[in-house]
Amino acid sequence: MKRTIGTCYYPEHWPEEIWAEDAARMAEAGLTWVRIGEFAWSRLEPAPGAYDFGWLDRAIETLGRAGLRVVLGTPTATPPRWMLERHPDMLAVDVEGRPRKFGSRRHYCFSHEGYRAESARIVTELARRYGHNPHVAAWQTDNEYGCHDTTLSYSEAAREAFRRWLRARYPGTGNGGDIAALNAAWGNVFWSMEYDDFDQIDLPNLTVTEPNPAHALAFRRFSSDQVASFNRAQVEIIRAHSDAPITHNFMGQVTDFDHFGLAEDLDFASWDSYPLGFLEDRVVAEAGWKRRFARQGDPDFQAFHHDLYRGVGRGRWWVMEQQPGPVNWAPYNPAPLPGMVRLWSWEAFAHGAEAVCYFRWRQAPMAQEQLHAGMLRPDSAEAPALAEARQVAREIAEAPEVSAGRAPVAIVFDYDADWAWSVQPHGRGLSYFGLVFGLYRALRGLGLSIDIVPASRRDFSGYGLIFAPGLMHMTPELKAALAAGPGLAVIGPRAGARDADMRIPVPLPPDLPRLDLRVARLESLRPDMPVPLSGGGQVTGYREFLELGPGAQVLLATDDGAPVAVRSGRIVYAGALLDAAGWRRLIAPLCAEQGIETVALPDGVRRRETETETFWFNFETREEEAAGRTLPPLSVTREVRGV
Ligand code: GAL
Repeated sequence: MKRTIGTCYYPEHWPEEIWAEDAARMAEAGLTWVRIGEFAWSRLEPAPGAYDFGWLDRAIETLGRAGLRVVLGTPTATPPRWMLERHPDMLAVDVEGRPRKFGSRRHYCFSHEGYRAESARIVTELARRYGHNPHVAAWQTDNEYGCHDTTLSYSEAAREAFRRWLRARYPGTGNGGDIAALNAAWGNVFWSMEYDDFDQIDLPNLTVTEPNPAHALAFRRFSSDQVASFNRAQVEIIRAHSDAPITHNFMGQVTDFDHFGLAEDLDFASWDSYPLGFLEDRVVAEAGWKRRFARQGDPDFQAFHHDLYRGVGRGRWWVMEQQPGPVNWAPYNPAPLPGMVRLWSWEAFAHGAEAVCYFRWRQAPMAQEQLHAGMLRPDSAEAPALAEARQVAREIAEAPEVSAGRAPVAIVFDYDADWAWSVQPHGRGLSYFGLVFGLYRALRGLGLSIDIVPASRRDFSGYGLIFAPGLMHMTPELKAALAAGPGLAVIGPRAGARDADMRIPVPLPPDLPRLDLRVARLESLRPDMPVPLSGGGQVTGYREFLELGPGAQVLLATDDGAPVAVRSGRIVYAGALLDAAGWRRLIAPLCAEQGIETVALPDGVRRRETETETFWFNFETREEEAAGRTLPPLSVTREVRGV
């Protein structure tokens, strides 16, 4: 794989006279890719059925002639105002039952059939016109599904579609669905919630107290399927007219639809990486940590998503949008330290990115994102990111072809588990993402490279250690695959804690054939009541009480002797949320046993190995020592290993 860079450009925002100069400057800087078009619907179809593709023809031609390769976005994230005259009920509805208004973007409900037809129509027009354009080298569907909390919609259209979805899930004779089967599966006898007909089932919002978790989880699964089918419709249209690869730009810590499932329809994954915005806005950490990395970004958050999207893209992935300077949308928006745009680019390449595109080419002088930096200032003078991108372009030109390689350890990441945890967290602040990310950070602190794989995986050969934390629902096939090895599998907490319909299974979990234990009871804990582990580390937030059979060996226990992590053969069960020290104590000996080398790294230093290179990243503003090396402040060190 050859590494490349690019940018995101909006020709419709600028006078046509400057397009050629922009294109020449992009090419001069060493950019390969330019993504365009994803919000341009009002200019592509100013009135219903009245298309204006002339300007886009000329923009693509101008960019292409400069040697750039175009990624063409479908504009369905921004339906124009006239669309609402045609489909007044197409708006997504929030959990409080309020329609979301026109005046920004993503104001559509995934379930609205009329909007789906409009989306298919504009995508067909674009695919027909540009499907064989020599400069259009890739496609992007829509923009950031789920952004601005738009996956879950409580509209009339969603309610109708949810009922159809439920009928298919609990099939009866004919097309009626088996309502008795749904009542039994959900346990609707509880609080007299039984239904007589699927048409009585509403969406699980505005209930007096919490809805039945089975109902809530079904709605989450339905909503995820709606995003996937919306996307699939676009992909099928594009494929009928074009051989160019298709992607979608996913986001950071958006888990409300199944990205692995959706990406089965794509040729590669991409995501939008805003390290400083995410640190302020999404990373759960103490104020001191946020202050320390405010201008560098969290040392693990981008890396986690790079690894996740490498898995989602089945090995092929890009950063479609890379933060170039201050953004406009986080609580605080500092500027990155000099060199960070380059460091983030190399971090993505170290994790296997094929391309890194900077968002955006020129800062917009108008509308919502005026305060979002670009590679150019609004007056077209260079902003700091451009010089760093130029440097990256020179550096990647000199680097050989590389392959991401396979990591020695893998984490199973499951969107369905995330929904189950959010439907039933059992304690404030407890989340599946938090559990997985905490484990990921601990693994990275031991210098490990990590693959992230879906719960649908059945073959774990090649991994010395597989972590499958927090999988509340585990199919028998997954249990068998994990138990089959050849590596060790670390599961729990809450492994197999619910069946497919969100009921507690009996026999009690985790119920793995070769694991000699059961979770007898559990509790969630206040943040100020951690339980110390004997020998160091703590249980935080959540804990299970384990009943052990004679074959179980205790690996970690609390100070007062209660087992916390237990092993039987190749399966290790962790019955708690652990802090970093607790995780390290569990992981390090397992790595040693499997012959996986670890190295204890300082907080701001990270290592990542491709098939032929070892990268060291120092996110600190001071020199750091790691594994006998002195790493300069804010640095990337690339070592090429013998093959
Ligand atoms: C992304 C989005 C872009 C732009 C950017 C600003 O989430 O895809 O269109 O809004 O954020 O940081």
